Amino acid sequence: MKIEDLTIREKLRLICGKDYWHTEDFGGKLPSVTMSDGPVGVRRTVPKGDGNEETVPAVAYPSVQMLANTWNKELAYQLGESLASDCAEHNVDLLLAPGVNIKRSPVCGRNFEYFSEDPYLAGILAKEYIAGLQENGTGACLKHFVANNLEFDRLHQSSDVDERTLREIYYKPFEIACGAKPVSVMCSYNRVNGVYASENKTGFDALRNDIGFEGAVISDWLAVRDRTSAAKAGLDLEMPFDQENYEKLVADFEAGKITEKEIDACAERVLRLGSRLTEMRRGRTVKLSERERIGIAKKIASEGMILLKNDGILPLTGKENLAVFGHFAKPADWGMLCGGGSSRVLPLDCAFDLPKELQKRTSGSVNYASAFDSDCVNSFKQNIRDAILCASSADVNIICAGTGAKFEYEEDDRKTLRLSAVQERFIVDAASQNVRTVVVLFAGGVIDVSPWADQVAAILYAGFPGMGSDGILADILTGKMNPCGKTSETFALLDEYPASNQNTTCGVTRYGEGLDVGYRYFETYRKPILYPFGYGLSYSEFLYRNLQVKTDGKSVEVSFEIENRSERDGKEISQVYVHECAPLVYRPFMELKGFSKDEVKANKIKTVKMKLDMSVFAHWSIANKQWKITDGVYEILIGASGSDIRLRTRVQIKNKAIVLF
Ligand code: BGC
Repeated sequence: MKIEDLTIREKLRLICGKDYWHTEDFGGKLPSVTMSDGPVGVRRTVPKGDGNEETVPAVAYPSVQMLANTWNKELAYQLGESLASDCAEHNVDLLLAPGVNIKRSPVCGRNFEYFSEDPYLAGILAKEYIAGLQENGTGACLKHFVANNLEFDRLHQSSDVDERTLREIYYKPFEIACGAKPVSVMCSYNRVNGVYASENKTGFDALRNDIGFEGAVISDWLAVRDRTSAAKAGLDLEMPFDQENYEKLVADFEAGKITEKEIDACAERVLRLGSRLTEMRRGRTVKLSERERIGIAKKIASEGMILLKNDGILPLTGKENLAVFGHFAKPADWGMLCGGGSSRVLPLDCAFDLPKELQKRTSGSVNYASAFDSDCVNSFKQNIRDAILCASSADVNIICAGTGAKFEYEEDDRKTLRLSAVQERFIVDAASQNVRTVVVLFAGGVIDVSPWADQVAAILYAGFPGMGSDGILADILTGKMNPCGKTSETFALLDEYPASNQNTTCGVTRYGEGLDVGYRYFETYRKPILYPFGYGLSYSEFLYRNLQVKTDGKSVEVSFEIENRSERDGKEISQVYVHECAPLVYRPFMELKGFSKDEVKANKIKTVKMKLDMSVFAHWSIANKQWKITDGVYEILIGASGSDIRLRTRVQIKNKAIVLF
């Protein structure tokens, strides 16, 4: 079907969607596209007999934040591949995912759905996710374009961001992810520098001309205020169908406010979306069984959990008498293990029983007490005094605490990074009775551990861990698995984040911190943090050494060795940061430009190689309105985290070529 085969009426209708989840097909004349929410499971709703909708159960994977904590590109690809099987099973052509919005503020209610505070990490993992999805027959919809970094007043707030910051921080993950050629991008709800994202011509032009996006731009659900202005700006498809907007568009066309050429530009891209997805559908099969898909969910959980603190109490020996506390260990409601909103999946199976899984792995006793109310907010349970007594006599206490969908959800932000008062109080009281206390955190974002971290022996961040993860958690606690996740955002006190101190009132959020987002700020200004970006402990100890650097003038190859000085096999995430010495324009102290996750066997050495191309040295030049690489000296920093630089070397850029010293 070509654009010429459609009447103007049909074209006007085509760019407005058909209903809540489908594009218009004119009774079978065109292929209809079926959409559904992601990003970590298919949230497919179908009509019930009574006129209402119901959600169909599906595989529930760990949150995107967990995927990011794995720093594992293959796993990101595998998640996409696995979701393609879910989509094939549920007849979904286009998955509304992934979201690459930057974690500018740790309180953003949707941070669990996003990857990182760093555009490179977010972009690279999203690119793999999209490739996995699209190479297996399902289209991706990369979202939310752009500068949607808080949920507060999300339908109206203007994110006021300067051009360089947009390019280097907020467009960047879209640019990298577009390397996988997503069939669509979704605009956000907010305004960008005063203009609604659905009418943001400057942004859409950059997306198509500079970022390399070739697909269709879709609106977020009900994000279109004026269909005509949105179409003129380059928004191709409004979703869902809105009768009033459609009628206004027709009237505007008839009044000459929008030309047929402008309508054609959008309609052609919607047609192309339909044909690309029809093409993809041909190769689509349910390639992975449910069991295999849950296996992928478990793999992500096993690599996404982060050991934040360990005084040596972990791994458990398998002989201790354990006392397990908190509803999170045995949730009656899956909402404790995931965030809320459009991404919430109805799992095929909600089984999660940590005490039971621990009992399978220990010869000691395992006692469980819920200790505090299931909403973790209001009160202790009646048995709290017994629980404290139990805590004092166990060999090891395992306290399961966290947030869940009641605290982390779409449409609002968290008010605090701290756990609820009852949870904090229980941790402090139990640890005062028995220092051999381990806290396991179930959350989708940063938790301020400062009120109690010093008093406990270990902290394991279990995230929103997905189906089948109770056994994985028990494996990590008992040492059958070696933890290997690292933080994908900086953990600090709320007031320390620059975004916390910017104006968010009167309908405008000022991005006054500019480029200084996340570790770019904390490392540049050496500000206090709880846990740095890229940080996570292992049961193994890794030594870095022997850094070598090579160049062909256009790129740099670094290679170094990682030695596993322990009796356990482990995985280490090494990170490459670039620091420009004496720059001519402001630059954050360091920027992530590469990473590698490698398995290093017990007592063995592994050589890691990473290649950086010339573009890693670039900044967006406001003066030249383009990317620019300045001649000068650049340090290459190899870190076990952003704050733990193990090796460093320098290169020079001279007359646009890289040279070694
Ligand atoms: C969310 C999108 C989602 C859409 C459809 C919106 O509220 O912002 O991320 O894809 O709803 O459910």
